[in-house]
Amino acid sequence: MDQPQTYSQYNDLQRTDNLFVLQTYLSLSRWSSDGESVLDVGSGDGKFAVESLIPRLPRTMGRFVGCDCSEAMVRFANENYGRQGREFVRFDIVSEALPEGFAGGFHHIYSFYALHWVRKQRKAFENMYKLLKPGGDIFLTFLAKTDLYQIYKNMSKNKKWKSYTKKEYISPYHGLANPEKRLEKLLVSTGFTTTLCKTETRSFIYPNFDIYKKSIFSVNPIISNLSPDDVPAYTEDFMKEVRNLKSVTISNINNNEESLTVEYQLFVVHAYKPLRKKGFPYDKFCKVVCQECKYQISYLIRRIRDMSKNINE
Ligand SMILES: C[S@@+](CC[C@H](N)C(=O)[O-])C[C@H]1O[C@@H](n2cnc3c(N)ncnc32)[C@H](O)[C@@H]1O
Repeated sequence: MDQPQTYSQYNDLQRTDNLFVLQTYLSLSRWSSDGESVLDVGSGDGKFAVESLIPRLPRTMGRFVGCDCSEAMVRFANENYGRQGREFVRFDIVSEALPEGFAGGFHHIYSFYALHWVRKQRKAFENMYKLLKPGGDIFLTFLAKTDLYQIYKNMSKNKKWKSYTKKEYISPYHGLANPEKRLEKLLVSTGFTTTLCKTETRSFIYPNFDIYKKSIFSVNPIISNLSPDDVPAYTEDFMKEVRNLKSVTISNINNNEESLTVEYQLFVVHAYKPLRKKGFPYDKFCKVVCQECKYQISYLIRRIRDMSKNINE
């Protein structure tokens, strides 16, 4: 995704959903002291973070960092929304190495409409866990179900478009009956304690096909890889697929213009990193043998308990 100008003009659906999630669930986000730091993952053009998220966070907030894997998005965000104490950096949430000073550096991680782009979900959550301070929390919303992925799949059967469709473009939750169960399991196995992990069914009305096309193509990963000559044919095939979707209702409105109502599901997640790491492998630890006396740790613990009982008696 590297079209910040178009995205910032045609993101009404994302903005409406993000605002709904903030209004409904932001009170779950746990703030306890002044100067707490924030990371926004997949901050894109920076507009939503700066105009809608930051004004809803405590004024005493400390450092704010927006990160995105797209250089173009980061440049646009810094040029339009950066200032002292608020920066946008290039960082892919599934990177092997974290930027200097990032590990354990954040009290809060937010992410809006970004994580469905991430195929390596486990790596993303492991990194978020590392980025948080103990007790820190994540507040996320991203697509759980949308028929757009079905369009990518259908179009990949056409040999003209096959080579352009990569599996990274399709969310790992696509096609699951209960995607929230898969996500919650992943969060818990990463070490998070979840307070909320659910899907919200949403719908959005595009007033006409032109706005729908501009909005959809501003986040379409394939179109920028096509030669300009192929774009009209791709667009036509894409729109034929749209007309066949059950989740899209097309209605005739004034002057024979067609509006589109699309339905989809969003994940809403709030979870936190426990103060102490959960799942300490006590049983394994007990089997470790002391190098000095060659007794197992479990035996030594029992001896210490017995000795302290005798002292008390
Ligand atoms: C639809 S935009 C959302 C922007 C903004 N959060 C909003 O709600 O308006 C999704 C952003 O996620 C970014 N993104 C996708 N995969 C990412 C990754 N692995 N690491 C960081 N950012 C990523 C994209 O580059 C894109 O800018």
